[in-house]
Amino acid sequence: MSDVDHRLMTLKSSLRETRVGPDPAPSDLAEGEVLLALDRFSLTTNNITYAAYGDAIGYWKVFPTGDPAWGMMPVWGFADVAASRAESVEVGARVFGYFPMADTLLVQAEKISRGGFADASPWRKAVPDIYNRYVLCAADRNYDKALENPEALFRPLFITSYTAVDFLRDAGFFGAKRVVVSSASSKTAYGSAHCLANDDVEVIALTGARNRPFVEGLGVYDAVHGYEQVEALPNDRPTLYLDLAGDRELRRRIHVRLGDALRYDCLVGSTQSDAFTENDPELVGPKPVFFFAATCLDQHRERGTLHAFYDRFLSDQKAFFERVVDPASPWIRIVEHHGFAAIADVVRDLADGVSDPAEGAIGVISR
Ligand SMILES: NC(=O)c1ccc[n+]([C@@H]2O[C@H](COP(=O)([O-])OP(=O)(O)OC[C@H]3O[C@@H](n4cnc5c(N)ncnc54)[C@H](OP(=O)(O)O)[C@@H]3O)[C@@H](O)[C@H]2O)c1
Repeated sequence: MSDVDHRLMTLKSSLRETRVGPDPAPSDLAEGEVLLALDRFSLTTNNITYAAYGDAIGYWKVFPTGDPAWGMMPVWGFADVAASRAESVEVGARVFGYFPMADTLLVQAEKISRGGFADASPWRKAVPDIYNRYVLCAADRNYDKALENPEALFRPLFITSYTAVDFLRDAGFFGAKRVVVSSASSKTAYGSAHCLANDDVEVIALTGARNRPFVEGLGVYDAVHGYEQVEALPNDRPTLYLDLAGDRELRRRIHVRLGDALRYDCLVGSTQSDAFTENDPELVGPKPVFFFAATCLDQHRERGTLHAFYDRFLSDQKAFFERVVDPASPWIRIVEHHGFAAIADVVRDLADGVSDPAEGAIGVISR
């Protein structure tokens, strides 16, 4: 363990600005504490959304910096247990979970089971349980070291794609026979389209001009439209809007175009927005309803169906990871970015909205 670790902090008022600072490693661990050494994590627009809603939803509170102007943008990734004073959490164990972009994270382990543990630190109560749980890879029968990169990239997103489609399917798609998906080039969007492959709904992609060839190449959408073609969207069937863009103006145009055909507006993402826009007095048609994967999982827990859900989900998820990186026809190429300077460049591009959807970015911290 080095004396001084480092961390990459984000300027809350301008998410493209980051700075590397020291992050003193603890000299001794207290009873129950575990020191996790992060080495591999994904970087997607989802991380920018965490930061954009850092104050509103509480994501800035999860990894405090002690400086109100600077925050730790949360990421999902893999770490080794570097030191442990928690029973059954062994040094060297591999874990997956929610981290700051930092060499190490000190957690207070609680709810320890064969499958993992949670961080009991009081500041983590700001967010749902799913963000505070660390999965022990050795106990995860779907874990595959060779699939760590796609797992880091898609695991936090595919759970949303999957539970959103479950929710819509359970609701009979609110009578819709067509689904219009915005920010169709996002991983969460095409994960949803993949889950809809065997449902009796047509899936139409909406995307920007730059990303259109990528979306067309995926082959998971029945048709692809540019944002400039909203006024030409077909409106002859009951339709549901699966909103990953979160853009108010785009939503207004879609609602006007679809008119009475629009049966439901499912708000999942905010790739093009950093404000809650559900309450728009000028919006015609159904009000957007925010979908949150964590709420869905809490409902499974309350109903006692969580284990059954995970059994089904984890094997479907693994098949999705394998499809995305299938060497014969990969959907994306995974690129590793080593060190905080390179990682800061990726964060800046994501914040600026200029990332290439064909690239899945992985941050790597080497020691
Ligand atoms: N509700 C939930 O529980 C939940 C869970 C997971 C993720 N999400 C949300 O889903 C969204 C997608 O995340 P992701 O990680 O899947 O995205 P991603 O793979 O990084 O995809 C990014 C895409 O978003 C659009 N975009 C990004 N930044 C933009 C900008 N500044 N201006 C305009 N367009 C921009 C572009 O797509 P187009 O050109 O196709 O528009 C871009 O290709 C995020 O907002 C994320 O927070 C929600």
